[in-house]
Amino acid sequence: MFAGAKRVLEENWREGRTPAGLTYGYTCPDSTKYPDQFFWDSCFHALAWSRIDVTRAMTELRSLAAAQQSSGFIGHTTFWNGPVRLARAFTYNLLDRRDFQTATIQPPLLGWVWAQVAERAGDAAFAEEGRAVVERLHAYLDRARADADGLIGILQPDETGLDASPAYDQPLGWRSHPNPGFLALQQFNRVRGYDYRRVVADRGFHATDVLVNTAWVLGWEGLTRLGHPGAAERASQLTHALIRRLFDPKTGFFFTEGPTGERLGVRTWAGLAPLAIGNLPPDIGHRLIAEHLFDPESFWLRYPIPSTAATEPSFVPGELRVLWMERYWRGPTWLFSTLFVVRGLVRFGFEAAAAHVVARTVELIRGSGFREYFNPITGQGMGATNFGVSTIVAECVALLGGGAEKRDEVA
Ligand code: GLC
Repeated sequence: MFAGAKRVLEENWREGRTPAGLTYGYTCPDSTKYPDQFFWDSCFHALAWSRIDVTRAMTELRSLAAAQQSSGFIGHTTFWNGPVRLARAFTYNLLDRRDFQTATIQPPLLGWVWAQVAERAGDAAFAEEGRAVVERLHAYLDRARADADGLIGILQPDETGLDASPAYDQPLGWRSHPNPGFLALQQFNRVRGYDYRRVVADRGFHATDVLVNTAWVLGWEGLTRLGHPGAAERASQLTHALIRRLFDPKTGFFFTEGPTGERLGVRTWAGLAPLAIGNLPPDIGHRLIAEHLFDPESFWLRYPIPSTAATEPSFVPGELRVLWMERYWRGPTWLFSTLFVVRGLVRFGFEAAAAHVVARTVELIRGSGFREYFNPITGQGMGATNFGVSTIVAECVALLGGGAEKRDEVA
């Protein structure tokens, strides 16, 4: 598993120097569909690298830092090798076709990951460096995106990392990806500079997403470990806000909140993501695990974790295409979610279940290779081959690997 992961990460490694003199080194998700640096993919790549070659993990994160703008913002995608391909110029969230970076975000996991990489590297100076980067990123998100309770908002579903998630079908309707109306949604946001405050003021689409806010809490937990005073308190306030606003005590599940404050009641894996939060109250964690994750009708399929519960009418376990476009996150298993769930299972004492998920994940990779996503029923691999984030299996295996030190990391 480690050898295969190392091969994929090495093949996808890109490094160089821009004409302006910025040096970079990052792992592209795959060499054809996604040659650029994707924010949350990079966070996962860094964790996988940290089990294989920690200096590459540090370079990967430093490239995200190098892509940070003076406002503190770091975009969803950074184009180190020159402007985006023409074919993507109309669908990516750019203000100008020649932009260095998109104007939208992805789940802000940087603090969480930087802390882990710094600890594994045993490098206090690297932790210091990361603290400054993450402080600036968080200050930006607070300024540009936070509500009074501190939770942050999104402008488009692709900001969650879960591009065509069925959670957003209802509020978006004809504007949901990849309907032509999605371009109208993008245009609405583009003419407002993708400025969240302006879009909200002009009654545009926006939401308080459960995965993005889980990442936000994790980012603050990471900032605590990077030594930021007050970050622990902030992480705990945000966890309370997340529960107050997005947890439904009736069903025992987390749901995203739509533009009018309504609960978007589709069960997707995002509702399980809070399991990774270090200070999630155990009663909530147990409910998520016992009533939802372990339900063989919805999430506990042969190859967990399906991106959408199998009980949802929108669930499609196989590849879903509209014309040439893939419609993502409507059923297949991506390994982004595996990491969140495995950490939660270990933390709440379900070691056997964590081992089961990891064993099934290893089976997926052995059967189909490092594909982008998998059919949760048959295990068939789909989408990109040699997909970077699927190397996170190395991290998941390592988390189970026993040894007091590894257990402490997930405690
Ligand atoms: C797809 C996924 C997104 C990911 C990107 C690159 O757009 O939905 O989460 O970051 O591919 O892998």
